This record gives sequence, structure tokens and C-alpha cells, in this order.
Amino acid sequence: ADHGVGVDIGGTKIAAGLVSEKGQIVHAVQESTPEDADLIAPAVAELVNRLLASDTTGPVGADRVGGIGIGAAGFVDADRATVRFAPNIDWVDEPLAANVGRLVDLPVVVENDANAAAWGEYRFGAGEDTDDLLLVTVGTGVGGGIVHRGTLFRGGFGAAAEIGHMRVVPGGRLCGCGQHGCFEQYASGRALVADARQRVEADDPQASPLLEVAGDADSITGPMVTDLAQQGDPMCVDLLHDAGRWLGEGIATLAAVLDPSVIAIGGGVADAGDLLLDPARAAFEEHLTAHDHRKVAEVRLAALGNEAGIIGAADLARLDH
Ligand code: BGC
Ligand code: NA
Ligand code: ZN
Repeated sequence: ADHGVGVDIGGTKIAAGLVSEKGQIVHAVQESTPEDADLIAPAVAELVNRLLASDTTGPVGADRVGGIGIGAAGFVDADRATVRFAPNIDWVDEPLAANVGRLVDLPVVVENDANAAAWGEYRFGAGEDTDDLLLVTVGTGVGGGIVHRGTLFRGGFGAAAEIGHMRVVPGGRLCGCGQHGCFEQYASGRALVADARQRVEADDPQASPLLEVAGDADSITGPMVTDLAQQGDPMCVDLLHDAGRWLGEGIATLAAVLDPSVIAIGGGVADAGDLLLDPARAAFEEHLTAHDHRKVAEVRLAALGNEAGIIGAADLARLDH
């Protein structure tokens, strides 16, 4: 089969695409992630079936689709079928492949969302020129994917590269995983929004442009912060700068362990570009051990944007079946 279906289940939205073997999205659909976690599998199946309907597959034809790959924002078991736990989605031991598989006609493989995105970037994006890639996704949570010598690194039990839960502050902010001080409580989109709300609620005079755009503290979103920062708003620039510093320190720790040749930064918050990456690069270089005596990984923007997860998951499914 020369096509695959890729699905990306995030904390905020579910996106699905029909993808060619060259990593091109032929057709894509999306909807917001249902609050009720039991409704996620049916929603995925519905999106997939919509994609596989003959009027959307068109000249591709459903018989040329090899399988369905699902990238899910959680701890995926080595069986690549079950989500054991998800910090930002209400899943425990969720048999996701079976629940979707029951409602669709093709084999289903489940992969961690950031792993899928890392695979997508490695095959068709920011990692095309390397065999050792670390992808960090900065979205609702912080995800990680490691490609080592051209293969996805899954660890002993499938849960490798859960970098969002690396402890960066002892006794720090409570995380959705139950621990305190996790990386994603400082460097994620959600952390960015929480910090922005705090500035608004503290009546920080610098917060008035953001408050004006959002209406109230609860309506602040990550893209609002990014948009304002891109227009030069000092507080929003500052918030992205802080997130970038956390990110840079985190990747310095990761590089001490993994020594990747390329570190790609993806996820929604990476839309901020250099407003996030410049401080991240500076903090990375400042904190990387033996910095002056080693080759330092290039920190670059992921190339496939929001589509990395879909493209990677589809490719994994296609190669698998
Ligand atoms: C989850 C990961 C996921 C990441 C990005 C984290 O909170 O633990 O499994 O990859 O968010 O979605
Ligand atoms: Na991962
Ligand atoms: Zn955590």
C-alpha cells in the first residue's frame, strides 16, 4: 500500500489525514477532542471513515491504504495498542487500537503522539539530514520523540521519551501526572497560558493589551500570547522568553543523556518561532555540559508544523502493514 491514514489525538483537537508514501497529506479532517474520554475512539473512527469514504480518497482508493496510525498524547504500551495513562486526557489502560479497530476496516497501530511526530520529522521534515534526532513538542503538554540511528527509540516498555515529566523543579508545580515540578509545567503552552493569567490576575499594567484581546483571564489562549508577542507586546515577548529559557535548560539536560545531532522544536507554541527559539538556544548553550568541548546539536524549528503527528503516524502504519 502506498498510503496510510494518520491520526493525531491531542489534548485540544483530533486531526486525521490520508497521507502518501512521500509524506504528502492528500486530505485532512479534524474536530475538537471530546471532554468525555469514552467518546474519543468513536470520534477517531468517524474521522477515519470520513477520510476513507470514496469521495475523499478519490483517485487514491481505499484499497491503496495500508493502515491507520494513531498518535496519542499519553503513555503507550509496547504493544502499540493500549494507552496506559495520559496526563492531560482521562485515559487509564485504554484499549485504543481495539476500540477504534472495531469501527473501521483497517489495521490500527497506536503510537505516542510525540514519537509519531518525531518519526514524521525524521522521514520528511527537520530530521531528514540526520539519523539521531530529538523532537520536543511544545503544546498543551511537552512531548518527546527520539530517533536513534534511524529507528524510533521506545525504551523497554514503550514509554521512553516522556520528557515532559522530567523533574526540573524539586517540589515545583503539580503536574497532571501526579508528580511535582515536571518540565511541562514550565515549558508547555498550558504553562504559558497559566503564567499569562497570573499576570492578568495580579493586575500587572503590562497585561492590559492581552486582557483587551482575551476579554477576561479565563479566555486567554496560547495563540493570543504568540500573536501579541509577534506584534512586539513586551509582556507576551517576556512570557515566551521564559518558556524558551525553560525549554533550553530542559534540552541541555536531555542532550547530556542523548547527545542528539539535531534537536527539533515543534508543537503549537513553536509557531512563535525565534521568540521561543532564541531564548531556548541561549539557555541550551549556557547549560549544556562541556559545551566548549563537544559538538553541539543544532536547535531548529520542526518543519512539518501541526502535521508532523499525522504524517508520522500514517507512515508508521504504512510501514507496519
Ligand atoms: C504526555 C506525553 C505526550 C505529551 C505531548 C505529555 O503530557 O505525557 O505522552 O507526548 O504530553 O502531547
Ligand atoms: Na514520546
Ligand atoms: Zn508530569
